[in-house]
Amino acid sequence: MNQHGTMTKDNHAALWHGRFEEGPDAQAVAFETSIHVDERMAFDDIAGSIAHAKMLAHVKLISEGEAKQIIEGLEGIKADLESGKLAIDYSAEDIHSFIEATLTDRIGEAGKKVHTGRSRNDQIALDERLYLRRTIPEIQNALLTLIDALTQIASQHKNSLIPGFTHMQHAQPVTLAHHVCAWSWMLVRDWQRLEDSLKRICISPIGSCALAGSGLPLDRAFEADQLGFDKVTQNSLDSVSDRDYCIETASNLSLIQMHLSRFCEEVVLWSTVEFGFIDLSEKWSTGSSIMPQKKNPDFAELIRGRTGKVYGDLFALMTMMKALPLAYDRDMQEDKEPLFDAIDTVLSCIKVFTYMISTAKWNTKVMADACEGGFLNATDVADYLVRKGMPFRTAHGVSAKAVRIAIEKNCRLEDLPIETYKECSELIDEDIYSFITSKACVEARKTIGGPSAERVEEQISELKEFIKNVK
Ligand code: ARG
Repeated sequence: MNQHGTMTKDNHAALWHGRFEEGPDAQAVAFETSIHVDERMAFDDIAGSIAHAKMLAHVKLISEGEAKQIIEGLEGIKADLESGKLAIDYSAEDIHSFIEATLTDRIGEAGKKVHTGRSRNDQIALDERLYLRRTIPEIQNALLTLIDALTQIASQHKNSLIPGFTHMQHAQPVTLAHHVCAWSWMLVRDWQRLEDSLKRICISPIGSCALAGSGLPLDRAFEADQLGFDKVTQNSLDSVSDRDYCIETASNLSLIQMHLSRFCEEVVLWSTVEFGFIDLSEKWSTGSSIMPQKKNPDFAELIRGRTGKVYGDLFALMTMMKALPLAYDRDMQEDKEPLFDAIDTVLSCIKVFTYMISTAKWNTKVMADACEGGFLNATDVADYLVRKGMPFRTAHGVSAKAVRIAIEKNCRLEDLPIETYKECSELIDEDIYSFITSKACVEARKTIGGPSAERVEEQISELKEFIKNVK
């Protein structure tokens, strides 16, 4: 017995030791154990075993008294793990072995019945699904907090002009509100993808046993119900041999991280002297050990950098599963490290990004000034002519001519005299000037999803509505 009075030498042995005469090599044990990784599923494992004990009693494979002993024993283990009274024994093979051994050590014979009609192969698949069922909502909530923060920025900046870019070149003016709403919609879809994945995750694999189900009269539907799942998997081989739910999660997380990395790239660019659109708060910036003047956007860079790790996690999972024959293969034990790493990384990146972006200051004057002088309104000159009946292709040529002249004269389109415009096209009148200010260009774009303040107002309400409905 150890100091916590939980482990005896006998219970401590691997669950499968009975078939072997020799004990395993110490290096072999160190190589194959997974408890240092799967320990985070301890409470999921306990919840699974409690449901299993209830089911075993329900079908009379164990007595009500034994079920009570098992359940109380497991609840005690949970409480002691929570309080720190019980420490994980890292010499156990995995979290399932540790909990079963601790239970037997505490309650005796009844503990030896908890694994009736169960294998670690269906147990691990269940634990992972339970773990994802409680963790995915945490990521979804972090996404909602970020979308909410972006919506607040949008509400404050419906009239803050900012250049819109294509090919990283000045394209057309938009507003900061419109720009951050674009990122918000991507995050909304990220939230929805996670939500959708829960439909496939929240299905009970337990009762599939090692691979071929059980000859014992298990009631899988009853056990699923105890676990809060309304469905059971349809094929025992499939149940223990796929990790598509881990891959789907890692893929959804990769998309989130990809979106964050892109926004971070903009934060890095926008905080340069050359752009100067954004001032990150000192709390979310770092300095340089040698250059006293530096204020660096390290958090944006770190989030951008950690994207590689998350994609790596996805690829580790995909490659681990590649070409695996049915049913369970031990290769699959390697799924947890990348899955947990992707979850931890993405969750912390969403949170840090939220702090960083919501504490930043926007230099609206610099952003508006950047809309001037880059001919961002050239399309609007063409649109002006289209409204007067000119075919768009011809109008495009006329506007291009005006741009060429403005480049020669080193002035903005709005600085060209009316005579010059008249030379380009007789259809152009004095009203062109009110049509092509950056503000007018943005306000004219009232198409659904466009940047005009009223359209962005709609987007903001829809985003707020989305948050309200899913919370
Ligand atoms: N630690 C194992 C895993 O994560 C649990 C299943 C072990 N099954 C076995 N037959 N060795 O995959």
